[in-house]
Amino acid sequence: MCGIVGNINKSLVKNNLIEGLKKLEYRGYDSVGIALVNNNKAIDILKSEGKIDDFLSKYKDNKSDGQIGIGHTRWATHGIPSDNNAHPIFDYYKTLAVVHNGIIENYLEIKTYLQSKGYEFVTDTDTECIANLISSYIKDGYSITKAIDFTIEKITGHAAVLILSEDHPSTIYGFKKGFAGSLLIGKSDEQIAIASDFQTLISNSKEYMVLEDGERVVATKDGILISNGKSNVRKKWLPINEDEEIVSKNNYQFFMEKEIHEQSDVFLKNFQGRVDFNKKTVNFANEFNNLDLATIKRIHLIGMGSSYYACMLASYWLEKISKIPVQCSNSSEFRYRNPVIENNTLIVPVSQSGETADTLSASNLARELKVDQICITNTTNSELERITKNSIMMRASSEIGVASTKTFMATIEIFFIIALYLSQINHVNEDLSDIFDELKIIPSYIDNILKNSDKIIKLSNKYSSNNNFLFLGRGQNYPIAMEGALKLKELSYVHAEGYPAGEMKHGPISLIDSNMPVINIVTDGPYLNKMISNIREIQSRKGKIIVLTNCPEKLDSSWYDDIITFDKTDDILSPFLSTVCVQLFAMYLAISRNLDIDRPRNLAKSVTVE
Ligand code: M6R
Repeated sequence: MCGIVGNINKSLVKNNLIEGLKKLEYRGYDSVGIALVNNNKAIDILKSEGKIDDFLSKYKDNKSDGQIGIGHTRWATHGIPSDNNAHPIFDYYKTLAVVHNGIIENYLEIKTYLQSKGYEFVTDTDTECIANLISSYIKDGYSITKAIDFTIEKITGHAAVLILSEDHPSTIYGFKKGFAGSLLIGKSDEQIAIASDFQTLISNSKEYMVLEDGERVVATKDGILISNGKSNVRKKWLPINEDEEIVSKNNYQFFMEKEIHEQSDVFLKNFQGRVDFNKKTVNFANEFNNLDLATIKRIHLIGMGSSYYACMLASYWLEKISKIPVQCSNSSEFRYRNPVIENNTLIVPVSQSGETADTLSASNLARELKVDQICITNTTNSELERITKNSIMMRASSEIGVASTKTFMATIEIFFIIALYLSQINHVNEDLSDIFDELKIIPSYIDNILKNSDKIIKLSNKYSSNNNFLFLGRGQNYPIAMEGALKLKELSYVHAEGYPAGEMKHGPISLIDSNMPVINIVTDGPYLNKMISNIREIQSRKGKIIVLTNCPEKLDSSWYDDIITFDKTDDILSPFLSTVCVQLFAMYLAISRNLDIDRPRNLAKSVTVE
């Protein structure tokens, strides 16, 4: 959840650190800080609560700088966001500065032990344990590298850490334990750079290497030494062939708004090389190249948040189209329930960031169990790709808005294409040619919703003072009800629940009164009459009814308060369009509440702690 940078340079590093942190701010934005080795070989720490702009205005007149430094943008786990709890964190003697991503699970035990040795703690963070533990081993007479190795051994949990030491002013130390986000090391003629993600690294590096679980790095301007605690690890520098992606809002007010509007393009990009609309065939052979899909008897999908809802939707599609039994699990549940995985199961972890700690742990468990995996991700060189070995890229380009939109769309599209592909290679005897014809038109139907978003803007204004919402759907639109409720919660901070509409009368119906707007996804297909019964039941209890529908002609206007329409397709494709409607509704409602659309409170784009 936090972002980490480090820089060793022939020139001054403060600006490089800040530029790096700006790129990583999506990972956490409650406080920010840097540590620099100054001209006197002492460590200066500058840090503040709030976003990078707050930091910059606090330190606008500060002249500290140096040729080596580390930095951090934080998503708080232990201790409220504050100047004091912001990283870097000093050890007790103020000779070591530490930045950390992850959670030290045994921090209380370590803290108590160190307090018994006279160490005083001045922050509420678990990170201070790392600083003081290293410091205590050094006081016991060990070298700093030994002290770090002992610390790696002693702590439990997940950690990605960088350390500056006043006694070694030309060196950045670091280590990685478990899954707390990536630590990538880059180099060019001028500098050594360290960052939590690849996009940040490529702005100033020509080659890179990846620090793996259990590894410690010693970085100086002369080179990099990596050890696994027992011996040195020889790694090759890998070339960076990608150009830095320039991301801007163009003429949109928010990144999220732009990203919602990019969805038809993303949709088209994900067809390329995969779907042949003339022959009505799908070719995924290049992406599935290490896997023998003909042997797959069962599929298990795992993810968190929107990625999990994408998995839920995919389970409907895969079973219906490819006739393979599918199970889907929330990664954090899968990980700890000792899952029974039958032979010939394919596991598909989904994560736009490729860094979600719960999904990484779940996928790592699958790796340990030697189950075939292929991930779906939007991040090249992500940790998830390294675990699964096989990946399908979302082709959604960078998503900056913290709430997922175009990456959700790309994921569900990829799943739909996989369903077609599996049906093809398993010779499922069903004529899907109409589906291909309709799938091709989805991008233009998405654009139609966007062109007519005025109606959704008016509706979100109308309901902007409501604090509770229900979203109902059936079949493949049930996961979209869940996703709609999640988008609304994330962006507008209102309470929203998604339900399969059939569940309503089993409890949630007691919530219905004239203050409860219920958003019903009503599409022309096998669930139509059932959804009509649901809205009639809500109306009998005076609930406010909003319908999102592709068949207004089949609904009597007296049955609902408000209506949002989208183009009619085969019902199986309707989630692509209902998704856009719930995204717009949530975004505009948050805009009318004057909230931070791209960086909603308490959230982070990459959730690198379990
Ligand atoms: O990077 P991931 O796809 O693994 O992220 C999973 C969830 O954290 C993510 O979908 C989250 O729910 C988003 N904020 C949804 O908008």
